[in-house]
Order: sequence, then structure tokens, then C-alpha cells
Amino acid sequence: MLSGGKGTRLRPLTHTMAKQLVPVANRPVLHYVMQHLADAGIAEVGVIISPETGGQIREALAGNPWGVELTYIVQEQPRGLAQAVQTARPFLGDEPFVMYLGDNLIGQGIHDFVRHFEEAGADAAILLKEVENPQAFGVAKVDGEGRVVTLVEKPKDPPSNLALVGVYAFSPAIHAAIDGIEPSWRGELEITDAIRDLLEQGRSIRSSVLRNWWLDTGKKDDLLEANRVVLDEFTERRIEGEVSGESKIHGRVTILPGARVRASTIRGPVIIGENSTVEDSFIGPFTSIGRDCRVANSVIEHTVLLDQAQVLNVVRLEDSVLGKDAIVRKLETTHTAFRLMLGDDSEVIL
Ligand code: DAU
Repeated sequence: MLSGGKGTRLRPLTHTMAKQLVPVANRPVLHYVMQHLADAGIAEVGVIISPETGGQIREALAGNPWGVELTYIVQEQPRGLAQAVQTARPFLGDEPFVMYLGDNLIGQGIHDFVRHFEEAGADAAILLKEVENPQAFGVAKVDGEGRVVTLVEKPKDPPSNLALVGVYAFSPAIHAAIDGIEPSWRGELEITDAIRDLLEQGRSIRSSVLRNWWLDTGKKDDLLEANRVVLDEFTERRIEGEVSGESKIHGRVTILPGARVRASTIRGPVIIGENSTVEDSFIGPFTSIGRDCRVANSVIEHTVLLDQAQVLNVVRLEDSVLGKDAIVRKLETTHTAFRLMLGDDSEVIL
């Protein structure tokens, strides 16, 4: 599982946080990936980490509720997905393996994908999904029987609209293919190039098209969309925190232990994390509130608050992502100026 690399697209959150740890419905993306690996019967997981964010990744996986055997593998520089496989070579040995990118979120498990790869005796299997902007991905062209005909990374002129989702399965034949490729224009050893090499050797590459959703959590709107879809699909009504003072809780709302909701209306799907407080507020659908947050006298909808964020006296906040410890508050004064303290790469839409 790949959790190295540099997070550049979801700045400013990824200035301080590995992109695999960005929360969706209050759980790091990485946890969904681990669940999929464990559910597919994978018992040994090598986790590629970078020197910069490796500590955070280890912390996020500590406790290991999936019961798999975890091995951390440090990749000194993010020199490409194929280079990550090279780094993991001693761990992988001569066994077939699955490679799963730790910042990808898909709407179904990978159990069937792995079984089909094993049964087919193929040298590689890739998962594809139709997208509107194939230029931003690895792209495959397949024939009528699903056999891969061409593969290309981030093409200017895409041969199809089928993007490679970040889930792959390989036989040990991939190692020699990786050893034979050169870095791409972006200076990375591309796994897409190594798979194309297998293809050119006439080896069998299976492809399947993902019918369920796939969300890249790399940008704010993608993150909000991922959050919306996951909340919509998985939120259950579970009130473990304290609800008081004429509050109304509508629909699928999860309020975790230690959270307190007072004199507020919550309309699900919504999740409110441990020890957060919501007072005199309305929390609208598709909102995730992390732990130790505070919302008072505000209206919030379709928004993600990371841990310890605060929203105070805000008339209406929507389609927003607030990082850890971020505060949005309105002063109780008639003075109408904005006073901001924004981190690098922040954006405020007024
Ligand atoms: O998201 C799917 C796409 O992922 C595929 O369509 C592309 O074919 C594939 O190359 C990859 O493209 P990205 O440019 O989006 O990959 P990114 O650099 O974002 O890295 C994906 C994950 O792998 C991310 O969790 C970081 C990790 N990584 C990345 C590199 C380059 C590593 O652990 N080590 C690395 O050297």
C-alpha cells in the first residue's frame, strides 16, 4: 500500500498532513484502503512511507484493527510508483502482490478483483474507470473482450476515457519490466510504463471496469464529494453523545461519545466526532465534524471540519473544508471588515 509521495493538490491541508490521512466521514482515506485489503484476504501489508510523513502514517495505523501484518518500507524520495515497487522488492520477494494507492477511495471492495487475477493466472490486472478528464490519469484502451491494447500515463491526447484507478495486481514478472524502464518526463519511474512493457512482451494483462464510484481526494471539491458519497452510503443513526435543550435530530446522524449537542437542529447524514460541541446551530446534510470541534450560533452545510476546528456566530457556511484548529468566527460588532489569518495556499470565498 502506497502512502509516500508529496501531497500538493490538497494544499493547504497537506502542508501539515499526509494526503492519505485526509479524513472522509471522519476516517482517514487510508483506513478504507486497509479495510479493502483485509477483506480481500491479504494478510501481509507493506506500507510505503516517506521520511517526512511516515510517522503520521504509522500513528494512523497503530492499533491495527484489521489484524494484518504491517511492514513499513521507507522510500527516501517519491520517484514514482514503479520505484516504490523497487523499494519494496525485498518485502515482496517472488510472490504475486496487490498495489493499492493510499489516497484512492473506491465504492467497493477489491475481493473479486484479486480473485479474478489469481484465477486468470495473469501477469497484471488493472482496474479502470470512465472519467471526463483522462489527461490527468494513466489511461488504457481495451478491446471488446477487455484485453488491454494500449496504456499511457497522463496523455495529452488520450486514447480512451478509461483511467487507471490506483489498484493493481502483479505477478513477479513486473520486477524485470520495472528494471527495464526509464524515468518519464516528470522524472518518475511510472508503473504504467512497466505494465506497457509487459504488454509488449505479449504477457496477459487483465482489466476490469469499476462500476461503483471512485473518488480522488486530491482537491477540495473532490474531498467534499467523497465526504458526501461516504456519508450518504454509510452513516447510521447512532446517538452516543449527549443531546439536550430542545435539539432536533433528523435522519441518519452519528453523534460520537463525549460530543454534546444543545439547542440545535441536525439534519443527516451528519457525523459529529468525539468531544465536539454544537450549540444554538443548524448542521445541514453532508457535514462531517471532527473531534474536539466547536460550533456555536452558526449554520453549516456540506462541510468538513477537521479536529479542533471552530465555527462561531457564522450566518451560513457551506461547501467548505476547515483544517485542524482552524477558526471562522464573526465578531459581534457593527464594524464590517474581514480580519483574516490564512495559511499558505488558503482560499476564502466571500
Ligand atoms: O489516482 C490514480 C492515478 O495514480 C493513476 O491513474 C495514474 O496512472 C498513476 O500514475 C497515479 O497518478 P498520480 O500522479 O495521481 O499519483 P500520485 O503522485 O498522486 O501518487 C499516488 C499515491 O502513491 C499517493 O498516495 C502517493 C503515493 N506515492 C507516489 C509516488 C510518486 C508513493 O508512495 N511514492 C511515490 O514515489
